[in-house]
Amino acid sequence: MKKVQFTETALRDAHQSLLATRMRTRDMIPIAEEMDKIGYFSVEAWGGATFDSCIRFLNEDPWERLRNLKAEFTKTPIQMLLRGQNLVGYKHYPDDIVTKFVEKSYENGVDIFRIFDALNDVRNMEKSIKVAKAQGAHVQGTISYTISPVHTLDNFVELAKDLEVLECDSIAIKDMAGLINPATAYELVSRLKEETDLLVDLHCHCTSGMTPMSYYAACEAGVDILDTAISPLSWGTSQPPTESMVAALQGTPYDTELDLNALNAIKQYFEQIREKYLSLLNPISERIDADVLLYQIPGGMLSNLISQLKEQNALNRYNDVLDEMPRVRKDMGYPPLVTPTSQIVGIQSVMNVLSGKRYKTVSNEVKDYMRGFYGTSPAPVDSEISKKIIGDEEAITCRPADLLEPEFDKFKSEGIEKGFINSDEDVLTYALYPTVAPLFLKGNAVEEELKPVQLNDEVHVPTEYKVDVDGDFFNVKIIPTGFLDISEMPADTNNEPIEGGVYSSMQGMVIKTKVNVGDKVVAGDTVAVLEAMKMENDIQTEIEGTVKEIFVEEGDAVSIGDILMVIE
Ligand code: CO
Repeated sequence: MKKVQFTETALRDAHQSLLATRMRTRDMIPIAEEMDKIGYFSVEAWGGATFDSCIRFLNEDPWERLRNLKAEFTKTPIQMLLRGQNLVGYKHYPDDIVTKFVEKSYENGVDIFRIFDALNDVRNMEKSIKVAKAQGAHVQGTISYTISPVHTLDNFVELAKDLEVLECDSIAIKDMAGLINPATAYELVSRLKEETDLLVDLHCHCTSGMTPMSYYAACEAGVDILDTAISPLSWGTSQPPTESMVAALQGTPYDTELDLNALNAIKQYFEQIREKYLSLLNPISERIDADVLLYQIPGGMLSNLISQLKEQNALNRYNDVLDEMPRVRKDMGYPPLVTPTSQIVGIQSVMNVLSGKRYKTVSNEVKDYMRGFYGTSPAPVDSEISKKIIGDEEAITCRPADLLEPEFDKFKSEGIEKGFINSDEDVLTYALYPTVAPLFLKGNAVEEELKPVQLNDEVHVPTEYKVDVDGDFFNVKIIPTGFLDISEMPADTNNEPIEGGVYSSMQGMVIKTKVNVGDKVVAGDTVAVLEAMKMENDIQTEIEGTVKEIFVEEGDAVSIGDILMVIE
């Protein structure tokens, strides 16, 4: 028997899961030297959503963060999470961008690349694996673990073997929703140890409550590495607590030999960090959510869903959306729910429920998915639904990135021309986030303020008032005797529907109007494109006729039921 090693996730997954990925570099550096002494297998500190968050919210250069961390972690390998051909973005990038990104990540300090694909399509991981190997990095191939009628242990073991052929050094079982139960963890880890020569890492979130048991079962099956988070940033949608797991394994054949006293100093530091970022911590994400056992939806996705429904003023449809989600997932051939498929499935479910008719509004991402642009789905997509969405268009069967033209030089010359590019790293930042990056690269981005902890207005409704009557004050206490039933309130209705009116089925922003007054349209024509919930949605007319009047311009914000145009 051998000791089990730990990957500490405090600097990436833990704050991504609990604190909306908002931890600043200046809050990481002061503790880095102490963390470096612990003896972790690795610290996960880069990639995933941290890149996006740095430039979008923190006015921080993600590359600089990496270099600064690298200067502190002299012994412990720095690990990143890479979404295969999606890198740290939400779509496939061409091979030249992937190559450059992996090279620069290694050069700036990444030692271990954990590479996954949302569909477990090896073709989407191949390029980044090869480039990372060529740099001399440790490459961890990944199984995106999920449960569905088509996912079997045999599939997962086959995937691991394919990744071994690509010369991965280790394999991660990435269990985004904490769905793996102890028996399955035991069996899967055992088989991976028997049938491959790879180091095996189990990465789970605690959402379902089963994870610590599954971790122990994995130890008994010979797991090499477990992912944990220092206790103030653990549990719920994050990883199991590092200290508890260390203590649990002490004196067993799997003893980590990590020092609980040294870990305690790190814990005390992160206790303060947790306080500092408390306004970002949604209490729901710290709790065990037994719903995932039924819905198989990762915890982070549920809290996203809640905020999106709030944004759409439709929180009362939460249960309908929860019911719709497994149906959409089935229609799409049971993709594991992880970035970006979790967003794609989640938002399509929201749209199916809010628009009152399934697939009446379809995001462009779902169209691309049906076209095969995300790769091969685990099971075939529902052919009728696909026909409804992309008509007779034939889905591609080649590796999706084979269809993409090189882009690095284009972004480079464009960025130089616009005057905000100073390095190849800048070019990559720009290529990955062409809409957000320019503001940041020009130095015009602003760091989001950390709010002090806010009282929840729903709970803290004022009930005591002072009433001023001509200078005399009276204390008045209001005692509620009835409640407003929000679920029965009518949605914001905008008067009577106008004949020939095209209405917005969601809250969002008009990013394109595709017709002009006087244009002739037929039913099914796209008349506008609306961005809602980070997805682009074509708005189609159901009426044939001539565009009589357009009420919106590009850039306008619209609510559900707002009239966009009239067709006669
Ligand atoms: Co994770």
